[in-house]
Amino acid sequence: MTEVMHSLSVERAETLSEADMADLCEATDAAIIEGGGFGWVAPQGRAALTRHFGGVLLVPERELFVARLDGHVVGSAQLVRPARNNEAQAWAAQLTHAYIAPYARGHGLARMLVQRLEERAAALGHRVLNLDVRETQATAIALFEGLGYIRWGTHPAYARINGRTVAGHHYYKTLEPVRGRPTEALFPQDP
Ligand SMILES: CC(C)(COP(=O)(O)OP(=O)(O)OC[C@H]1O[C@@H](n2cnc3c(N)ncnc32)[C@H](O)[C@@H]1OP(=O)(O)O)[C@@H](O)C(=O)NCCC(=O)NCCS
Repeated sequence: MTEVMHSLSVERAETLSEADMADLCEATDAAIIEGGGFGWVAPQGRAALTRHFGGVLLVPERELFVARLDGHVVGSAQLVRPARNNEAQAWAAQLTHAYIAPYARGHGLARMLVQRLEERAAALGHRVLNLDVRETQATAIALFEGLGYIRWGTHPAYARINGRTVAGHHYYKTLEPVRGRPTEALFPQDP
């Protein structure tokens, strides 16, 4: 049997062509239908998702990253930076809404997406990346733990999905700067 070679890529999207937006909306609804990972529980349709992603591109604290399989957008993730008034937590950013459409899974795209987002967060000067995930998202949990994210807590009433309360796990990962002291050295030391 011949193995099909796919082209895989990830990029930060500052604009989206009409075709990319259509692919992104399709991938998003497919992921929602399969069981989420996104805040939405029900599929939204192309018009609502186009408005949503159009809005994401305009929010100064948000950056959108898209994954492509053979040139088509098949998933995305967002980097959320702290608001400018939150100086105390300026060193931490959040990874959110990461998903790959079910028809594009298993190629390593989610790993690439998360690593690209980590590189960007570190380049922007962030030293910590936070994320949270429903305890039911076993694949995502394996992905994040495999990439070194540390679970520091579980929220028992994290989400409500179709009439059922679902717990959620909270994770962080430290990021290393290009220059300067290692992040661990900035953690509180035991007396
Ligand atoms: C989690 C998700 C993004 C993974 O996408 P993907 O592109 O298939 O993942 P990758 O191919 O990059 O795999 C990366 C790692 O994920 C884990 N993984 C992927 N598929 C897996 C599976 N079927 N079973 C267990 N672990 C799996 C593995 O740790 C894998 O690393 P490995 O290849 O070294 O074993 C995808 O399943 C998804 O969109 N799930 C629903 C949305 C979600 O839960 N998002 C997270 C909330 S923020």
